[in-house]
Amino acid sequence: MAKKKTIAGLKFNGGWDYAAAPESKDHIRLQKQYDLFIDGKFVAPKSGKYFDTINPATEVKLAAVAEAGTEDVDIAVKAARKSYEQVWSKLPARERGKYIFRIARIMQERARELAVIESMDGGKPIRESRDIDVPLAAAHFFYYAGWADKLDYAMPGARAGSLGVAGQIIPWNFPLLMAAWKIAPALAAGNTVVIKPAETTPLTALKLAEIIQEADLPPGVVNIITGAGATGAAIVNHPGVDKVAFTGSTDVGKIIQRALAGTDKKYTLELGGKAANIIFEDAAIDQAVEGIINGIFFNQGHVCCAGSRLFVQESVADKVIRKLKDRMETLVVGDPLDKNTDIGAINSKPQLEKIRQFLKIGVNEGGTLYQSSCAVPSKGYWCRPTLFTDVSQSSRVVQEEIFGPVLAVQTFRTIEEVIEKANNIPYGLSGGVWTDKGSRIFKITGQLRAGVVWANTYNKFDPTSPFGGYKESGMGREGGLHGLHPYVKINA
Ligand code: NAI
Ligand code: MG
Repeated sequence: MAKKKTIAGLKFNGGWDYAAAPESKDHIRLQKQYDLFIDGKFVAPKSGKYFDTINPATEVKLAAVAEAGTEDVDIAVKAARKSYEQVWSKLPARERGKYIFRIARIMQERARELAVIESMDGGKPIRESRDIDVPLAAAHFFYYAGWADKLDYAMPGARAGSLGVAGQIIPWNFPLLMAAWKIAPALAAGNTVVIKPAETTPLTALKLAEIIQEADLPPGVVNIITGAGATGAAIVNHPGVDKVAFTGSTDVGKIIQRALAGTDKKYTLELGGKAANIIFEDAAIDQAVEGIINGIFFNQGHVCCAGSRLFVQESVADKVIRKLKDRMETLVVGDPLDKNTDIGAINSKPQLEKIRQFLKIGVNEGGTLYQSSCAVPSKGYWCRPTLFTDVSQSSRVVQEEIFGPVLAVQTFRTIEEVIEKANNIPYGLSGGVWTDKGSRIFKITGQLRAGVVWANTYNKFDPTSPFGGYKESGMGREGGLHGLHPYVKINA
């Protein structure tokens, strides 16, 4: 989308226009309708039901997708069980590793196709799906493929066995990447999988099903079934599932935790967040501003670890906020397939409504709302980059996860004050600190009750690094060595 605007504070002779640079979608093959991927084949759902997935940037339907009912879930879990008992758990570990490597390599070969479909189905900018989601997804398969035949070294002194069937439910913000986070460690540890992508973004998971076929994985090792919450609940509650892995909202996480209480199913929950991104007066301010932008506007703010609460030391607050507003003016909102785009489409209409609701709540609570002045397309779901000042610890826009491009800004004077404020929240997933002082970094990272704290950077991910939360942000870790543990039975 071309960008026309004057940039407040900075003089660019009336602003710059970028020529459109759209990524081609001519090479993308999408079927009109997708069935369930069970036991190595695409099969029609017993439920007989299908639902549409649309492109949130255009509101145009992309495909109809099967809705798995309880009977379909049962068939998928049984296929996973049979394949676990008869094939996968009997394979030498290094053979399992070869299959996982193969998936990683085919993902790389088909990276462009995956990136374009990810952006079309979910609204994220192609720059992100191309440079982050897809390469990182492949990297997770590569990483865990390497562990498959080294589990005894991963857990020294113990014999690492598999659990059985993993039931996995993933959200819509990083569809392919979350599928990789879930499937790769499960397979490496010798389990089979029934996984459900989110209802607004099922297409890259279905493309992954094609890749799994191409990789010639034994039938039933990975089953990919589509549907909404009821399908997810049927997976969680199926007695044949040995381990549940969920990423999504804290509300659903609580439902799942209640459902699993009293069962012997293992589970991990990656839930919401409301991270503090903390800027000290001695920070490199321009870099910090980039980090703030990346922290909250990456993937439209649909990020569980988004830096959605900004804390700026009072002495530099005016400067940081002015620079932040200038930088927000330069962000390009629009066509996710355009390589110039910084902020794509909001993932769905309900999510846009939720964000708008929070904008009203923030204003009604006395917050001052600031949005960049960029144009947004008339069709599709869009939200301009937004920040709130004049908010306090008790404001709902400070306490609750909005999951959109909305930043709540507060100031602080002392390190003790900011630690107290940062931790005074139901969540504890991530955080950021910007300062020139190493000792301050160590103090903050030691005292923030958050699973990940980035120092002088933000939103950096790597398959070798564990990720997960405290408090209502969930339990268990994914990624790295830690990410193997939930899929392993010790001394089985
Ligand atoms: P959600 O938690 O309902 O959806 C996540 C996944 O769980 C989807 O695959 C969904 O089909 C499935 N699901 C829904 N209900 C289920 C149930 N009872 N049992 C098992 N699986 C179930 O999230 P939703 O409704 O799409 O988004 C609502 C809010 O949740 C967002 O506005 C955002 O604040 C938060 N959210 C947070 C995420 C995170 O990674 N922290 C990811 C997605 C949403
Ligand atoms: Mg969609």
